[in-house]
Amino acid sequence: MGLLRPATFGGETRNDSFSAISFMIKIGSVNIDTNMLLAPLAGCSDLPFRLISREHGARFCFYEMVDSNSLIYKRRESFGILKTDRKDSPIAAQLLGADPSAMLDAAQKLFQLVDVPFLDINCACPAKKVIKKKAGAHLLRDTPRLYKILKTLISSLPLPITIKIRTGYDTKDLNHIITMAKHCESLGAAAIFVHGRLMTQGYAGEIDYDSIKRIKDSVNIPVFGSGNIFSPEMAKKMFDETGCDGILVARGALGNPWIFKKIEEYLKNGGGSDEVSLEEKKKVLKKHLCYVDKYKAISPSGKIGIMRKIAIWYLKNIPHAARVRSQITSAKSYTDLLEVIEQCA
Ligand SMILES: Cc1cc2nc3c(=O)[nH]c(=O)nc-3n(C[C@H](O)[C@H](O)[C@H](O)COP(=O)(O)O)c2cc1C
Repeated sequence: MGLLRPATFGGETRNDSFSAISFMIKIGSVNIDTNMLLAPLAGCSDLPFRLISREHGARFCFYEMVDSNSLIYKRRESFGILKTDRKDSPIAAQLLGADPSAMLDAAQKLFQLVDVPFLDINCACPAKKVIKKKAGAHLLRDTPRLYKILKTLISSLPLPITIKIRTGYDTKDLNHIITMAKHCESLGAAAIFVHGRLMTQGYAGEIDYDSIKRIKDSVNIPVFGSGNIFSPEMAKKMFDETGCDGILVARGALGNPWIFKKIEEYLKNGGGSDEVSLEEKKKVLKKHLCYVDKYKAISPSGKIGIMRKIAIWYLKNIPHAARVRSQITSAKSYTDLLEVIEQCA
C-alpha cells in the first residue's frame, strides 16, 4: 500500500510505488488542481511573494486576510492586499470580521475588486486586537456568532464559503471542536482549514495531529492540515497522521519557494531533490526584490524595510548567516542590499 492514503475528494489520483495522493480537490463545486495551497500569511504573502511561489511550483494561493471594515471603508491597505496580476491565479480570499452583515457587505465589495473561486472566514487569528473585536480565533469560542456569519454568507453569496480554524482556543476540547466542525458543515461550509494549534499557542509548539484527524473523521467536506510544514517530510507527516485531504504551506515558504515542488516530488515518488545552491538563492531573492520594487506602491523606507525582511528569509541558513543578517539590517538602500547579497559566498 502507498505511504499516503488516497485523497477522498477530487478526480485524478496518481498511483505509484511510493504513494497514492490526489492532486485534485473539490471545494463545493469548484475543482482545484492541487491539494497543496500557499496559506494566507498577513504581511508576507503579497503579490511579489505569490508570483515567486507560483514560479517555483505553487499552484493555488491565498491573499493575505482582509479586514471587512477595511474593505467597507475603502482603506488603502485593503487595496494593497488585493493587488493581483494576470499570472496570479487561481487565488482565494479570506475575510476577517465579527459582524455578519458587515462581512457580507465586505464580501460583495471584495468581489467587485477580485475574482475568487471561494471565500474563507478567518477563525484562527490570535492577535489581541483581532480577538478584542470578536473576530479571528474569538469565533472558536463564540460559535453562535460564527454560525450567524456562515449562514449569512452562505445564503447570500454564489460561491463556496470555507472556514480556517485552530484546534481550540485555550484548551484541547475535542467535543467542542468536532461539534463546531459538524455544525459548520451542516450550515454549508465547503471545506475546513485547520491550524493544528490552540489560539493561545500562537505559532509555537507542537502540532496537534490528533485533533486534525478527529475533525477530518467527523465531516464529509475536505479538511486541510496546517502547521510546521517546513519540509517534504513534514508535509507527508501531516497527511499520514491526520488523513487530511490537503495541506497549507505557510512559514515553510518564506525565502523558500522551492518547497512546493519539493513536496510534490517527494509525495509522488519519495524523491529528495538537491539542496538549493547559494547562487540559486541569490538569483531568486534578487528577482523577489525586483517584484517588490515593481508591485509595492509604498514609501521608499517602507519598501527597503520589506526588502530587508525578505533578504533575511532567503539568507538565514548560509555560511556566516549572523554576519550577513546584521549587514542586511544595516542596509539603507536597495543598492546597499544588493551589495550585501552579491558578497555572500
Ligand atoms: C506571519 C504570519 C501571518 C499569517 N497570516 C495569516 C492570515 O492572514 N490568515 C490565516 O488564516 N492564517 C495566517 N497565518 C497562519 C498560517 O496560515 C498557518 O496556519 C500557520 O502559520 C501554521 O503553519 P506553519 O506552522 O507551517 O507556519 C499566519 C501566520 C504567520 C506566521
